[in-house]
Amino acid sequence: MKGIILAGGNGTRLHPITLAVSKQLLPVYDKPMVYYPLSVLMLAGIRDILVISSPRDLPQFRKVLGDGSSLGIGLSYAEQARPGGLAEAFTIGADHIGDGSVALVLGDNIFHGPGFSLLLQEHTPHTDGALLFGYPVRDPERYGVGEADEEGRLLSIEEKPARPRSNRAITGLYFYDNDVIGIARGLRPSARGELEITDVNKEYLARDKARLVDLGRGFTWLDTGTHDSLLDAGQYIQTLEHRQGLRIACIEEVALRMGFIDAEQCFRLGERLGGSGYGQYVMEIARSLRDAGPQERAGSLAGPRYGGLALPTTV
Ligand code: DAU
Repeated sequence: MKGIILAGGNGTRLHPITLAVSKQLLPVYDKPMVYYPLSVLMLAGIRDILVISSPRDLPQFRKVLGDGSSLGIGLSYAEQARPGGLAEAFTIGADHIGDGSVALVLGDNIFHGPGFSLLLQEHTPHTDGALLFGYPVRDPERYGVGEADEEGRLLSIEEKPARPRSNRAITGLYFYDNDVIGIARGLRPSARGELEITDVNKEYLARDKARLVDLGRGFTWLDTGTHDSLLDAGQYIQTLEHRQGLRIACIEEVALRMGFIDAEQCFRLGERLGGSGYGQYVMEIARSLRDAGPQERAGSLAGPRYGGLALPTTV
């Protein structure tokens, strides 16, 4: 399965902060926003990832993330000339997707919760049709909204409905089989002039091939679309990281725990960032894993706990 991070758009709701900088590179507490969705794909076990952004911002993404080799993954880049809609990710990314399945994550979505990476890894190898992730929100009219039956079969989906039929927002993480490319190519722009992801999902619904997994109560899905929600997200991450002494969406740690790099490589990544608390953390994690016995080391990749450290099941 291939991955795509869609990180374009004009960021107009965050002006003037985004006049010169991409929204998805803004800090969410201690790291650039794009680290969060990148962690999601890595935790799903996806190692071949395309980052799509605007011609203005793409060079900055390259600078921040590079070619991914230091994390044991492959990152490539493609331009979206203008924000023509989320479904353009599949036409722009068609060559990257090839003849397999794909996971798309929006560059401004933050997911955090126990069991998340196991849930992702469970679904990654068997994508048939569309798999969507729903989350209960107070204001569903701001999102795509879905309804599902007890088996998780999608029953309806609407984009920003004035009168939502449920409180289940469709989050910005989508798994599709290879049909998505053809479906996206066949779309017409909506009234707001965009190729809508919800229209892709409606087509899967019409084929009875769309499922909705509920992320439920104990889970966190955060929005970073306004000045307030961006600040709230940063404070949420700060609170958890201070309380637990563990970093959320630390891509170096995720790479290590997923077995994409070894402890020595991870340590060197930390050294490069050594001047910061983040870099110190990366070195510490690498040191504890390097010093662990083979059994504990194996446990860090497969099981929910490694020694005193948290697991790869949350981002
Ligand atoms: O966040 C989840 C929601 O994302 C879903 O519930 C909705 O169904 C889906 O349409 C989308 O709604 P938004 O109103 O959040 O979409 P927005 O236009 O803000 O775009 C989401 C992100 O994708 C944003 O960071 C900008 C980026 N983007 C957007 C467009 C339209 C692109 O990179 N390219 C684009 O063409």
